[in-house]
Amino acid sequence: MSDDLRDFIAKAREMGECRFIEGAHWDVEMGRIAELSLTRPESPLLVFDKVPGYPPGYRIAANPFSSSSRVALAMGLPLELKGIALIRAWKDKLAAIKPIPPKTVNTGPVRENVLLGDDVDVLKFPIPKWHELDGGRYIGTGCMFIQKDPDSGWVNIGAYRSQVVDRNTVTFHCVPGHHGAVIAKKYWDRGQSCPIAMVLGQAPYLWISAISPVPIELDEYAWTGGLKNRPVEVLKGQTVDLPVPADAEIVLEGEMPPPQAESAPEGPFGEWEGYYAGVRTPHPVVKIKAILHRNDPIQFGVPMLVATHDDNIIQAVDYSAQLWAEFDRQIAGVKGVSFVPQARRRTMIVVSLKQMYPGHVKQAALIAAGTYRGATVAGRFVVVVDDDIDPTNMSEVLWAIGTRCDPKSQIDFLDNRLSLASDPRLEPEKRKIGNYTCSTALIDACRPWAWRDQFPKTTKTTPEILAQVRQKWGDALFGERRT
Ligand SMILES: Cc1cc2nc3c(=O)[nH]c(=O)nc-3n(C[C@H](O)[C@H](O)[C@H](O)COP(=O)(O)O)c2cc1C
Repeated sequence: MSDDLRDFIAKAREMGECRFIEGAHWDVEMGRIAELSLTRPESPLLVFDKVPGYPPGYRIAANPFSSSSRVALAMGLPLELKGIALIRAWKDKLAAIKPIPPKTVNTGPVRENVLLGDDVDVLKFPIPKWHELDGGRYIGTGCMFIQKDPDSGWVNIGAYRSQVVDRNTVTFHCVPGHHGAVIAKKYWDRGQSCPIAMVLGQAPYLWISAISPVPIELDEYAWTGGLKNRPVEVLKGQTVDLPVPADAEIVLEGEMPPPQAESAPEGPFGEWEGYYAGVRTPHPVVKIKAILHRNDPIQFGVPMLVATHDDNIIQAVDYSAQLWAEFDRQIAGVKGVSFVPQARRRTMIVVSLKQMYPGHVKQAALIAAGTYRGATVAGRFVVVVDDDIDPTNMSEVLWAIGTRCDPKSQIDFLDNRLSLASDPRLEPEKRKIGNYTCSTALIDACRPWAWRDQFPKTTKTTPEILAQVRQKWGDALFGERRT
């Protein structure tokens, strides 16, 4: 497991998975380069430097998780794991987490530069405008916000996007129901501003806790400590009573006034679905009082690009592992779960099931559609396949849909399901009245239970026999050494 962001970059470099790019402009050019890089599978981490108009060393790390091996590196798992094996290993690791509270230290690299008062200016960093039609420069994509619940003192970390308004103001885009929005509202309901710290470059394992559905009231620093098996080192903020990571690259400290007192227009932004579906609307703002940063700071950029290959494998792996664990708590027979990266993850879930009783497939589909982690938002398709199908292998999944599913009798629909403003398929009329809902298809792509024994046998050789063939013929075929 890598330690801070610099260590992650150094390790990616050792693995031959890092490209340094000098001279790219912050105005859309970096975004396009990052997208072009994703036309190749398992593409490198990109580090942009010498951005025109900015001092050398002020860098941006993009496409951090566009390869399985770097996802495994961030998760502290064997680097060779891929597909369902990577998801299984992450699921096992999550099951073993014993939270370890963070350790408060007196100082750390993030305090190398402390800017207060008139020196506060976020535009001193080369903040990208990622997509052509973005409404502005997005300082927060691979970021994390830190907030404290005013009642319980519980600390939450969440990744919510953020656009620059001016030198000391940025926006806060948090979907209602996400913990950051829940905490902020508690302050605003009392007429108070919400203290907040925003981290712009952090250890990748810590960022996982920010994007992962960690249960409410569980301190994400403690969860991460458990993941790492040692406490995360934090400092007390310079101007806010919030713990910030001691080895962060950049931290912005400030407060969010109630939106009725101050807000700013935000968006549109190239959303995770791959469209500019959301419109420009007033958003809560963070008024920045202090900036802490390391020398030659590195921003962490995860703008969610749609290209030939996945830009953020880590989220698909995490969601899949968490839903699979949920299945284990509820029913037997689930052999694998995959949020499909090619469909932008949340919109399509595939469950591989060893059928054990009548109705088992429908039960699995409804659990996937109905649990917090499975349903989340904008979940359009749940596909259940038999246990001979690898749910991460789309060739196999499509084979199952094409040959085992009778559409009329094996597809059901659910309506009025939670979606969100960035959903490109939301009808204009529904968008106008804020009715953010969609439907979900439950696709049973399994051999029908009632006559499964009469279903024609497949010509496909079993993985066990293919392994024997590989042992004997692998050399001749692939030039492999026999082991
Ligand atoms: C790159 C990236 C960007 C994200 N942007 C947002 C966002 O702008 N707003 C939001 O509410 N959630 C966003 N999310 C999802 C949340 O980070 C995620 O649901 C997380 O679990 C929320 O944490 P919370 O439950 O502690 O609020 C983003 C996730 C990723 C991976």
